[in-house]
Amino acid sequence: MRPIRIALTKGRLEEKSIEMFEQLGYDCSEVRNKGRRLVLPIKNANIEIILAKAADVITYVENGVCDLGVVGKDTIMENGGTFYEVADLGFGRCRFALAVPAGADFYAGYHTRCIASKYVNVTRNYFEKKNMDVDIVKIEGSVELAPILGLSDAIVDIVETGTTLKENGLVVAEEVCQVSARMIVNIASMKLRKAEINELITKVEAYVQEREAQKKAKAEKEAEQKGTEQA
Ligand code: PRP
Repeated sequence: MRPIRIALTKGRLEEKSIEMFEQLGYDCSEVRNKGRRLVLPIKNANIEIILAKAADVITYVENGVCDLGVVGKDTIMENGGTFYEVADLGFGRCRFALAVPAGADFYAGYHTRCIASKYVNVTRNYFEKKNMDVDIVKIEGSVELAPILGLSDAIVDIVETGTTLKENGLVVAEEVCQVSARMIVNIASMKLRKAEINELITKVEAYVQEREAQKKAKAEKEAEQKGTEQA
């Protein structure tokens, strides 16, 4: 049987995704030493890793050429698609936010606001819920430039550390929602390779729970230390 193919998102989520598979016991040495190769075998399991751009991860999983994928909820919200979203992996946490130039009042005046974003569907849905008519202009990257150059009143974008906004004189006006990395599964694969995929999902769930427990314990310990210092 062909290996189970897992599509990982290149870039922001790549390192954390590889770390997760290593923690699950998979030998990712070929992935770590990939050079320019894009299809990479896991040596100790019948698994192949594919590295692709976020939206392409969805395309490959949706079409069944990859059985599973790791992709941000931001891309899922923007692109939609037919697949199972089986796990919130807990890493790649960031938020969608509406950001404006510092000091600007987004709601002042009566003109139709122009919003720049790479995520036009997320932006449209957000303002539709508010019953607010806005113009949306699609920008492919470095969307912070749009309000700086005077093209838009605001942006809808992902904010992780907030550094990009800060360094470009923008501030969060409203939070749209939280996002994080998700595991997705092709619908047919879920039936055809049920045992293998369920085994993987079970391992992933245990990994996520363990990490959450570790984070909670760490936060509690830090809070305790703070309390001791203040006393
Ligand atoms: C994303 C996002 C912001 C930045 C936010 O861009 O679009 O520009 O990261 O991160 P921060 O809050 O930690 O500063 P990305 O690096 O993915 O590139 P892009 O601008 O080309 O989309």
